[in-house]
Amino acid sequence: MPEKKRKILVTSALPYANGPLHLGHLVEYIQTDIWVRFQKMRGHECWYVCADDTHGTPVMLRAQQEGIAPEQLIARMGAEHKRDFDDFGIGFDNYYSTHSDENRELVTEIYKRLSKAGHISRRTIKQAYDPVKNMFLPDRFIKGTCPRCNTPDQYGDSCENCGATYSPTELKNPVSALSGVPPVQKDSEHFFFKLGDFKDFLRMWLFPREHKNDRDIHVQAEVANKLDEWFDAGLKDWDISRDAPYFGFEIPDAPGKYFYVWLDAPVGYMASFQNLCAKKGLKFDDFWGKDSQAELYHFIGKDILYFHTLFWPAMLEGAGFRKPTSVFAHGFLTINGTKMSKSRGTFITARSYLNHLNPEYLRYYFAAKLGPRVEDIDLNLEDFVARINSDLVGKYINIASRTASFITKHFNGQLLAVQQFTKGDSNYIDGVRGSAFQIAEAYEAREFGKVVREAMRIADGVNQYFDQHKPWELAKDPKRREELHQVCSRCVHAFYMLTIFLEPILPKTAERVAREFFEKSERFRWSDLETFPVCINPYQHLATRVDPKSIPALLDESQKDMKTMAEKTSATITETSDLARHPILPEISYDDFAKVDLRIARIVKASHVEGADKLLEMTVDLGGVTRTVFAGIKEAYKPEDLEGRLTVVVANLAPRKMKFGLSEGMVLAAGPGKKDLWILSPDTGAQPGMRVK
Ligand code: MSP
Ligand code: ZN
Repeated sequence: MPEKKRKILVTSALPYANGPLHLGHLVEYIQTDIWVRFQKMRGHECWYVCADDTHGTPVMLRAQQEGIAPEQLIARMGAEHKRDFDDFGIGFDNYYSTHSDENRELVTEIYKRLSKAGHISRRTIKQAYDPVKNMFLPDRFIKGTCPRCNTPDQYGDSCENCGATYSPTELKNPVSALSGVPPVQKDSEHFFFKLGDFKDFLRMWLFPREHKNDRDIHVQAEVANKLDEWFDAGLKDWDISRDAPYFGFEIPDAPGKYFYVWLDAPVGYMASFQNLCAKKGLKFDDFWGKDSQAELYHFIGKDILYFHTLFWPAMLEGAGFRKPTSVFAHGFLTINGTKMSKSRGTFITARSYLNHLNPEYLRYYFAAKLGPRVEDIDLNLEDFVARINSDLVGKYINIASRTASFITKHFNGQLLAVQQFTKGDSNYIDGVRGSAFQIAEAYEAREFGKVVREAMRIADGVNQYFDQHKPWELAKDPKRREELHQVCSRCVHAFYMLTIFLEPILPKTAERVAREFFEKSERFRWSDLETFPVCINPYQHLATRVDPKSIPALLDESQKDMKTMAEKTSATITETSDLARHPILPEISYDDFAKVDLRIARIVKASHVEGADKLLEMTVDLGGVTRTVFAGIKEAYKPEDLEGRLTVVVANLAPRKMKFGLSEGMVLAAGPGKKDLWILSPDTGAQPGMRVK
């Protein structure tokens, strides 16, 4: 019975544009892609959109470090992400960017509607501010000693050693990670989204008291429990503005104030879809309008639940849009049982993986481990090799590679039709086809582990059958030709169905099987289970076992990658931070300072010194008294540019005999040296001879 054609819009969380994709990310994109491919195979109208999440402080700072504009950085990262996704077979219908006109317009419109309805408030708050970099600091950019376990060098929001979470004001000896100086608390007016206004709406949406069907359940049961705790803790106002300098969208009528990245990020789902609408002639409101009957699903990781199950539905409600049908959260990836670690080499980027291993292997492995719950999943590398080799290659691929040659050689590629099978064999085929129902249900419910188990159970059966009937012996006996034909055809038919079952998980392999082996012009659809192939082409190699050497090679590459990345970042941070290189000296008393006699002086004459490659000789007037001073600023200043200028001189420094003469004072200058030196100048009005104090 054909299902009614559904209209479905699916998203995955938008990856940050400040770093490469890693295997943890891929849990999500692979999970979503499998589900979307399944829906498309079933003939539904299903659209899958995503984008790079481009705004925020980390992107701004990284661009600064690299000496490029943020727009350049996000263009490069977007292209890298896109290439990684393509290579992993993630079939987005649109991959866009949150730094787009569509997104700017949508977020502005949503903000205006929320504001008009009274859901935005303003108030002045105190925030950590870096007095050297002249900017407010996000928690992640404050470092200090953990208040709980005293481990130094921890981030402002949590401790990597003991796992404690806290606010940056609790850190001991806090410093800005950017400049190395202690942050100061500074006032600033911020904009807030009044989440509390949506308490009743959210309660209904999250915890429906009675539901008629699944479409009234918007979050997984375990998520609802977690949300219950958050509800009890109270729905606080959400700070949605950030001060300049910030890379993002400016808030209308609020110069220097920007939307916090998390406000425009989920709107990026809409913006990407709107961009797709323009390309495909779809109607935006059919999917996002208040009365839309289309289904809308967000796949996300458990770390961003708060944003997707509280802020986002409340924003949509407040601005008059439809809400998601469901938010599907997944757990986190661990590798060999622990958090991905840069030092162990298990922080594996998508690209390093692709340099060593077949992407479909990871899709298969993740699928085998994925279910509908918010559980963490482990990539155990030994188990990975074993499963790919024994199951994917050893069971599934093996069916085609061992049976095809008999059909090709003895029957010119022609298969025996199922109708001509003996009763037992045709019942068997009906049985496999009968599993389609359960498998489809498992896909729909995101029980991909079940799909894989069922497919492997079938593959096991086919291989046993093959072994029992020993086609290699049948082939020797011309009287048993019919039997040979049937045995091998039965295996090929089963392989055909298995390929359809696995198509969402192994799209590239399935596409090749369809095209090369069964000579189909299009990829498989679920309805292809209703027909059977009549002939096959000679088998071409589809997949090999994992070379065990590729795992250590991959870990090795990841470790090296991380090292160079870490070196690059720390190098740029020290380069940009003078304070980190020259920390502030120990405290002195006022009396110590008062001993230094600083005077305003006019440079009356400046000239090169014969034979000296760094020095300029200057005559300075201290308001009646003149002095000769030598200064190492030759590469930074031309003598003629200095003459006539006012500057600051240490007037009571003991004279110093130099190779070229006696220096009777010192001109003050800042900077690392060579061309990069800057002498001080007083504001207009200061006169030679005035004391600087
Ligand atoms: N930019 C935000 C999402 C904005 S959505 C409007 C973000 N980006 S992210 O790059 O950090 O993560 C993207 C997705 O990948 C998130 O759903 C996140 O949970 C998921 N994962 C990131 N690391 C992961 C693991 N180690 N394991 C599983 N999923 C992980 O969050
Ligand atoms: Zn700690």
